[in-house]
Amino acid sequence: MDTHKEKINLEKLPRHIAIIMDGNGRWAKKHNQPRVFGHQNGVNAVRESAEASAELGVEVLTLYAFSTENWKRPESEVNALMELLVESIHGEINTLMDNNIRLNTIGDIQSLPEKCHDELLSAIHKTRNNSRMVMNVALNYSGKWDITQAIKKIARGVKNGEIHADNLDCQDVDQYLSTAGMPDVELMIRTSGEQRISNFLLWQTAYAEFYFTPVLWPDFSKKHLYEAILNYQCRERRFGKISEQITQDKQC
Ligand code: FPP
Repeated sequence: MDTHKEKINLEKLPRHIAIIMDGNGRWAKKHNQPRVFGHQNGVNAVRESAEASAELGVEVLTLYAFSTENWKRPESEVNALMELLVESIHGEINTLMDNNIRLNTIGDIQSLPEKCHDELLSAIHKTRNNSRMVMNVALNYSGKWDITQAIKKIARGVKNGEIHADNLDCQDVDQYLSTAGMPDVELMIRTSGEQRISNFLLWQTAYAEFYFTPVLWPDFSKKHLYEAILNYQCRERRFGKISEQITQDKQC
């Protein structure tokens, strides 16, 4: 059911939505199941949000699937997550093709298990010409990692004379991050009631609107995404200016 969809102003869509998919473990516990059952059901919510975002015309959807800190989880859960990732990327390739979605990853995927790495590269290759939306899956990712790898590239550029440190501005730095060429995040959603950024896209969310919902990730549906977008469209985005300077049409 596309409840709320018709109320969305397509002229004022967030160009880039990022989601911290949280609450899989609690959802599984509620259903008296092991944690991995929550992750398995989380894949349905990935499909729902990807389809809904692409149908509306969102340019980029970034999903936090595995952080650099998630390696600290029990080995059995890490292995199950990696296997699930391989299975779901493989299983959802038709959804990506049908919806004209290009898969991309952000994060250090070299350190993922080989099978996982290969499956990702194959899906990235298969979807490379899809043009309706980019779906970034953040894997072995953290915001601090991203900024650090950008600093390393910039430092090398300065050392070899390709970059002039005094001329470097924020837009230049953007080009060294893993989201180079993509718009900054405009709407950041976190499910499960937690209200933290958890080392996600630290630089790219500088002016993002944050939306927190108590819904646990496996229950997150298209309807919930529409609610988040409608809420975003009711906000006044000032970017440091004062209210009277904002010329954008008021939505609510
Ligand atoms: C957070 O819930 C969820 C994760 C760390 C994993 C999310 C991964 C998927 C949904 C797998 C599929 C992903 C793709 C992109 C195909 P949690 O385990 O922290 O839940 P809790 O806080 O309730 O314990």
